[in-house]
Amino acid sequence: MLASAPGKVIISGEHSVVYGKHAIVTAINLRCYVNVRKANRVKITSELGETGIDFEVHPYVSWAIKLMEKRVGKNLTPEIIIKSDLPVASGLGSSAAVTVATVYALCKEYELEFELEDVYEIAKEVELEVQGKASGIDPFVSTYGGSWLMPEKERFNFDSEILLVDTEEKGVTAEMVRRVYDLRKKYPELVDEIFDVMDIITLKIKEALESKDYESIFELFRMNQSMLKAIGVSTEKIDKITSKLERLGYPAKITGAGGGGCVLSINPGKSKKLEEFKVISTIPETEGVREEVVQ
Ligand code: PMV
Repeated sequence: MLASAPGKVIISGEHSVVYGKHAIVTAINLRCYVNVRKANRVKITSELGETGIDFEVHPYVSWAIKLMEKRVGKNLTPEIIIKSDLPVASGLGSSAAVTVATVYALCKEYELEFELEDVYEIAKEVELEVQGKASGIDPFVSTYGGSWLMPEKERFNFDSEILLVDTEEKGVTAEMVRRVYDLRKKYPELVDEIFDVMDIITLKIKEALESKDYESIFELFRMNQSMLKAIGVSTEKIDKITSKLERLGYPAKITGAGGGGCVLSINPGKSKKLEEFKVISTIPETEGVREEVVQ
């Protein structure tokens, strides 16, 4: 049984969402593919290696098997092969995508009765086991696909090409969240003002995306990036890349926690080349987890 689930990008609202503000998040057409076959013992194969249940090398898949076993009340011993379009630890939701696809494929392979809601709930539990703390946004978007305003879970349409530039630096989400927490502790009124501004920016970006008002999208991205820099989650490399992209006509911002990872811009249909960057071109994906035909 082969299943796939999409990755995601945060278009706006990273960090401020932790403090109750809005965020816009969309599934993208880069997927993680998980093949599950009933077998006599657990074998998990990915670019990270070949293991049995292994909470170090394959924490998400191992926890998915364990939590599924708890639900069905018996041992599961699948062989699982993982292939992914998504770079790991770049803020593109690769962990959620592998988890959602694994849970879905296990349900189907073992002919368990389930709804999509169950897949989301189990994937969210897996994320909590591995990370200790999580908003659940990534498994939600990976399960259902589409573009969403959070926390309302209001689905909306947008289909512009998203450009991602990998900074090739690895940002650690927990560390960045902690940094913002500390800054807010020191300057509560100031940082809360910044979050309020980010909230307004996020809501305006949603409107601009829906109406394909690229001029406004770019102005708002520029303001959003300035706020992210103000709360200390940008880096020298991100600053360099975003100013270069802006000069080329593509104002860009961090997507995700920052400290590295990817920066994001939108292609308003220009044909201008961005050869000097390692650009990942992607589009919003309306479909969430699904069964794939084995070739
Ligand atoms: O880097 P990512 O994709 O894990 O996104 C983190 C987003 C934050 O707002 C910084 C944290 C969160 O839990 O929402």
